[in-house]
Amino acid sequence: MLKQKRNIIVGIDTSCDDTSIAIFDADAGCVLSNVVHSQFDLHRPHGGVVPEVASRSHAENIRFVLSQALEQAQCGLKDLSAIAVTKEPGLMGSLLVGTSFAKALAWRLKIPLHGVNHIEAHLFSPYIHKEGVYPFIGLVASGGHTAFYYVESPLAEPQIIGHTVDDAIGEAFDKVGKILGLEFPGGPAIDRRAEKGDAKRFSFTRPRVKMGQEYLSFSGLKTAGNLLFQSLSSPTEQDIDDFCASFRFAMVDAILEKTRYFLAHYPAQAVTLSGGVALNKLLRESLFELCKSESKECFLTEKSFCSDNGAMVAHYAWLRQIPAEGLELETRATKDLRGAL
Ligand code: KG4
Ligand code: ZN
Repeated sequence: MLKQKRNIIVGIDTSCDDTSIAIFDADAGCVLSNVVHSQFDLHRPHGGVVPEVASRSHAENIRFVLSQALEQAQCGLKDLSAIAVTKEPGLMGSLLVGTSFAKALAWRLKIPLHGVNHIEAHLFSPYIHKEGVYPFIGLVASGGHTAFYYVESPLAEPQIIGHTVDDAIGEAFDKVGKILGLEFPGGPAIDRRAEKGDAKRFSFTRPRVKMGQEYLSFSGLKTAGNLLFQSLSSPTEQDIDDFCASFRFAMVDAILEKTRYFLAHYPAQAVTLSGGVALNKLLRESLFELCKSESKECFLTEKSFCSDNGAMVAHYAWLRQIPAEGLELETRATKDLRGAL
């Protein structure tokens, strides 16, 4: 009897400093493997992501990451039926490695290629392995992006209903972590230290944005953190723990205030949280409690799918039925180039 071909999507993300490839079973709607090669150790000495270092590392590791993903999923190249790749936004060199690799693979295997928006892939990642609830208010909180979306149905265009006017929330965590002399990246380091600290010890003025209630700002909190920390002469370990707890509390409180505002203005059934900052312990717990008190469902992205990963890219292409683009794969860079010619 003829063996039926499996319906397998490979998801590739090289938008920033993680090389990630996942194998996704499109018949079962589940992730078979999700391999992430982190570049933290390479960037740590520089205290931030160095774009050139990031793209080189992607180029060196991407083939190995694919082999690992296939091996863990017990698949071969012949099993792949489509490719989904992050095409934007991200670091240009890093994106080019992923999209070039994806194009070459699609050409070699003669399978369709889907270009995916990284932020939208994060937005739908809370629904991986779950039945989604619509309409929902989704917060994407990452190192490069912080925005609230309103999504009416699985195939409707996500509507941005509010966003930061300056720093992304993860960026503010990372910058304050640097000021405190914590290890890179600052977000998880502050979260860990905050667990041992007193959140009531220091108070931070909550940001107010003149543009309107739907906007957020984190640069004021970051600057307030800087000034406050400079004013502490020879801070002890306990001072730093208390500072982290107070700062984390202020950041999360700013998010909760906006969530309440959006819940009052949009008829959402659920609230979702995604992106790297969705790993924050206090944010997860507080958002969950808020949803409970507002009788809304709360979807917190599974921890392994919060930071950048290929699974969310494959899942997004599958869930939203993103059309194949072929080897022409239109990115902002190719669009700009065409405009310039
Ligand atoms: O989504 P992501 O992996 O990459 C981007 O697309 O930006 O997010 C990375 C961000 C970093 O800023 C990192 O510090 C932050 O997520 N992050 C956290 C935590 N874990 C990661 N921020 C606060 N608390 C955490 N536990
Ligand atoms: Zn991301």
